[in-house]
Amino acid sequence: MRILLPILCLLLPIAAQAAADPKLGKPLHDKQCVACHVKLLGGDGSGMYTRKPRLINTAKALGQRVAACSSQTNAGWFPEDEALVAAWLNQTYYKFK
Ligand code: HEC
Repeated sequence: MRILLPILCLLLPIAAQAAADPKLGKPLHDKQCVACHVKLLGGDGSGMYTRKPRLINTAKALGQRVAACSSQTNAGWFPEDEALVAAWLNQTYYKFK
C-alpha cells in the first residue's frame, strides 16, 4: 500500500492528460446527444452542426452550448467531459481555431 500511493500520484496526471484526446468525446456525444438531433434532422444527426446558418460561431459559444445541453439532458458530465465533447465537435465539424 505504501508503495502504491506514490505510483498512483505519478500516474493520475498522465491519465488526465491522455483524456484530453478529442476522440474520447465521440462516445459521450453518441450516448447523450445524437438521438435527439437524428430525430429532428434525420441521417446521422450531424446536419445540426453543418447547417447554415449555424447557431454556434465561436469555440467559446460551442463550449457554452455543450455545457448547457449536457445540464439540460442531465447527462451527469463533468466539465472535463463537456470539454471533450466540445473539442470533438470542433475537430469534426466546426473547425474553429
Ligand atoms: C431533446 C433534444 C436534444 C438533445 C438531447 C440535445 N440537443 Fe442539441 N440541439 C437540439 C435542438 C432542437 C437544437 C437547435 C436549437 C435551435 O435551433 O435553436 C440543437 C442544437 C445544438 C447545437 C448547435 C448547432 C448549431 O447550429 O451550430 C449544438 C452544438 C448542440 N445542439 C449540442 C448538443 C449536445 C452536446 C448535446 C448532448 C449533451 C445535445 N445537443 C443534446 C436538441 C437537442
